[in-house]
Amino acid sequence: MTASSLLSIGDLGADGIDEVMTLTDSFVEVSQRAMPKVPALRGRTVVSLFYEDSTRTRLSFEAAARRLSADTMNFSVSTSSVHKGESLRDTALTIEAMGVDALVVRHPSAGAPAQVASWVSCPVVNAGDGWHEHPTQALLDCYTIRSARPSLAGLRIAIVGDIKHSRVARSNVTAFTLMGAEVTLVAPPTLLPPSLAGWPVEVSTDLDAVLPKVDVVYLLRIQAERQAEALLPSLREYTAGYGLTERRAELLADDALVMHPGPMNRGVEIAAAVADLPCSLVTRQVANGVAVRMAVLFLLLGAEPRG
Ligand code: NCD
Repeated sequence: MTASSLLSIGDLGADGIDEVMTLTDSFVEVSQRAMPKVPALRGRTVVSLFYEDSTRTRLSFEAAARRLSADTMNFSVSTSSVHKGESLRDTALTIEAMGVDALVVRHPSAGAPAQVASWVSCPVVNAGDGWHEHPTQALLDCYTIRSARPSLAGLRIAIVGDIKHSRVARSNVTAFTLMGAEVTLVAPPTLLPPSLAGWPVEVSTDLDAVLPKVDVVYLLRIQAERQAEALLPSLREYTAGYGLTERRAELLADDALVMHPGPMNRGVEIAAAVADLPCSLVTRQVANGVAVRMAVLFLLLGAEPRG
């Protein structure tokens, strides 16, 4: 990785993704040790700056930083000076002045992590910005598929659901296609972006027809918090047309894989029983997320301590 920040998955390219995957292998091995810790980033400080709710991503970055022996600090909007009117720029500069080595930023606005990166001199990792990108999610998803299959090249992957509001879909379409997979988006027309020009994908509204042909079905959460207007008649109708119900799961090939970035709405986009099937990689995605983020932090912070 030559860039000094990770803002978008496209910046890495196929070679950069491969580099992260290779390094992740060794951090998976570290994570499986009785004492899952290496001294690589001892004395470094990683700060997470989260302007949006998050469980797994924030904890995952924190676990990753700690397993590399970095110190971690958490900035949470609910207890911060943001409520006293402090701007994003002032907040970022204040945190930087305390001596941080990397900032992990999640924000409801697309482009906010890139703005932060233009203001501070330390590396910035985009942990999700609005509908835009979620590069470490795409990396952990590539890694998880690669750990279950020889490679992503030639795999057929369906991404199903609320594509319109999903930063995961945007980063994953880029990552999967860079790695040679063929992506089909499956969604009701109201949950597709207004234009798909430039997206290297096929599109379908018929999940039953797509399922038998895919190697991986990747389900997205209905992002009710991002929907300004009612784009669905009801969640029940959504499940009837686009949910991976137990009946639909039977249409999948025997060796097909089921994925979801979490948090899952069991019974909406995925049936509770399907989420727990052996073909579901959901918990492996979470486990791999820590090792992938270790690789990202290690590559960005390098071996050189702050001068
Ligand atoms: C995703 C997100 O926040 O973009 N979750 C995650 O990071 N694992 C997807 C979602 O919220 O549905």
